[in-house]
Amino acid sequence: MSRSVLILGAGSAMAGAAARILAERGDALFLAGHEPLELQRLASDLRIRCGAKVAVGRFDALDPAGHPGLFAQVLEQLGGLDQVLVASGYLGPDPRALGGEEPARILAINFTGLLPMVGLCADHFQRQGRGVILGIGSVAGDRGRQSNFVYGAAKGGFALWLQGLRNRLHASGVRVVTFKPGFVDTTMTFGKPGLFLVAAPEAAGAALARALDGGPDIVYFPAFWRIIMALIRAIPERVFKGMKL
Ligand SMILES: NC(=O)c1ccc[n+]([C@@H]2O[C@H](COP(=O)([O-])OP(=O)(O)OC[C@H]3O[C@@H](n4cnc5c(N)ncnc54)[C@H](OP(=O)(O)O)[C@@H]3O)[C@@H](O)[C@H]2O)c1
Repeated sequence: MSRSVLILGAGSAMAGAAARILAERGDALFLAGHEPLELQRLASDLRIRCGAKVAVGRFDALDPAGHPGLFAQVLEQLGGLDQVLVASGYLGPDPRALGGEEPARILAINFTGLLPMVGLCADHFQRQGRGVILGIGSVAGDRGRQSNFVYGAAKGGFALWLQGLRNRLHASGVRVVTFKPGFVDTTMTFGKPGLFLVAAPEAAGAALARALDGGPDIVYFPAFWRIIMALIRAIPERVFKGMKL
């Protein structure tokens, strides 16, 4: 059965790989991102290769005033909405200095700036009594580490919000999935030191498409990160605070 799927942050390599799988199986897509001209290229490719119905629009987490207009555009172009995949994110520069404007930007693009748009989708799904919201968090959101705790706080906050939303919408028949990747080889991680067990974006895209179909509420990708993070969370704080992670 073909579905109507909105992808926020569709310029992400992981989201693009998921979009290809969804388009191949006949879903209608709305690709949204803050560089819509770039997305037009992906949309043309999907239309030509898969014969898919694909629309494109501007989504900027830093411009919540634009979200109601985008939501109306999505409903008009797709004729409804069944699923939303939230892939927008921003790692930010290496946070040596703790102040300045960057922390608010990181929080907005990974968490707070997503809520107006995802909230509109949630209200819509609740009214229609079905729908899927899949948000990409991160293993970085499972424990605060000195190397990236602003990003981690944003991802952790988003995961907690999704958890509450899942609880709120459960009785309405709406699924809410939190997808937590480890390291994936994308623009975000390009050239970063200290990466290990790096996964391919195509594999992440396939896992995203599967998670939209069904399965657990919280998905670690690859699955072994569930064990790694359980071990990391189990380290007592008095030991953890002295570790260089
Ligand atoms: N790569 C990893 O190792 C890793 C690990 C854990 C979690 N994640 C998460 O996975 C998701 C996809 O990331 P990725 O690795 O594929 O990196 P990416 O290519 O940098 O994707 C991030 C996406 O966020 C979009 N974005 C940036 N600023 C935005 C804004 N102001 N408003 C709306 N969208 C904005 C980007 O748009 P443009 O393309 O137009 O810049 C891009 O489409 C993100 O949520 C990321 O935090 C990634």
